[in-house]
Amino acid sequence: MIILGCESSCDETGLALYDTKAGLLGHVLHSQIDEHALYGGVVPELASRDHIKRLVPLFNTLLTKTQVARRDIAGVAYTRGPGLAGALLTGAQFSTSLAFGLGVPALGVHHMEGHLLAPMLETPAPTYPFVCLLVSGGHTLLVNVEGVGRYEILGESIDDAAGEAFDKTAKVLGLPYPGGPHLAALAEKGNAKAVRLPRPMLDRPGLDFSFSGLKTAAIVQHRQWQDSQTGCETDRAAWLSDLAASFEEAVVDTLLRKCERALDTTGHRTLVISGGVSANRKLRQRVQALCEARSADAFYPALEFCTDNGAMIALAGALRIEAGQRDSREGFSVKPRWPLHELSPI
Ligand code: KG4
Ligand code: ZN
Repeated sequence: MIILGCESSCDETGLALYDTKAGLLGHVLHSQIDEHALYGGVVPELASRDHIKRLVPLFNTLLTKTQVARRDIAGVAYTRGPGLAGALLTGAQFSTSLAFGLGVPALGVHHMEGHLLAPMLETPAPTYPFVCLLVSGGHTLLVNVEGVGRYEILGESIDDAAGEAFDKTAKVLGLPYPGGPHLAALAEKGNAKAVRLPRPMLDRPGLDFSFSGLKTAAIVQHRQWQDSQTGCETDRAAWLSDLAASFEEAVVDTLLRKCERALDTTGHRTLVISGGVSANRKLRQRVQALCEARSADAFYPALEFCTDNGAMIALAGALRIEAGQRDSREGFSVKPRWPLHELSPI
């Protein structure tokens, strides 16, 4: 069964074809980063307008690339939420219209379930049960995953998501949007022990996170350093790298400690990380080392499937459509806010 997946929840238009027997057949992606970079962040109206322009041409490119005919598509999955309402509507409208035209089922799927299942696109894929650390621009969640739709939230951020903290800190350091990967690149050249920053909420029991105070601490350190300087460019570059490395280390330390606790609490021997921040090299290295030390297994998506993409939506949709789930034919709705635990199992 070949399922088309469509992602349009924020600033990436992604389409993919997933075959329940053969796996991923191909995917295409258009990123709007250049357009939003001018404004230092995502402008929702521009995002929606761009998705509208890209969806049909990307779909045609995908068909050509994979040599799949329209009549071979057995269902269309799209991101129903969470995300920007206008951006979600473009993908939902495109997908449900296409499904109606082809006479096949459509299904709105949860963006974070897409991220959570993205490591299943790899070989070998993780097997249930596992602990999943979902770290994206909008969410930081630790989830006990027993199967598709069987998600117990063990912990989450009570304020900024990890990616959001990366992006906001990077902005203050003068880095371009989206700041996370730029800050990580700067951190490669810095000394992670140079600036003392807090490891939030490690002194308390539980699995929740808080990154807002850490972000503010980094910003305060930056301001104090600026006030004390006379303006040597070499010093400034070295200091920014040290601050970036120290910030990254503080975030990774905090995430890792909570992952360890989640493995202890659940007794699971598999740790999966996914979402945009799972592209972070230091986080991947540290997760690998943690799992090796505990004789556990670590899994993460390929780099291209860490950030938003159509493949993860095609996969999540394929699993659910194959199990018989589908939207009613009475129109469609999007869910800009949609808690993960509301999902039904298959
Ligand atoms: O999952 P995603 O593409 O979008 C959401 O669902 O939010 O995640 C985007 C987030 C952004 O905050 C971005 O800065 C962050 O992932 N990110 C990174 C890295 N690559 C992307 N953060 C740290 N290090 C990276 N290498
Ligand atoms: Zn995402």
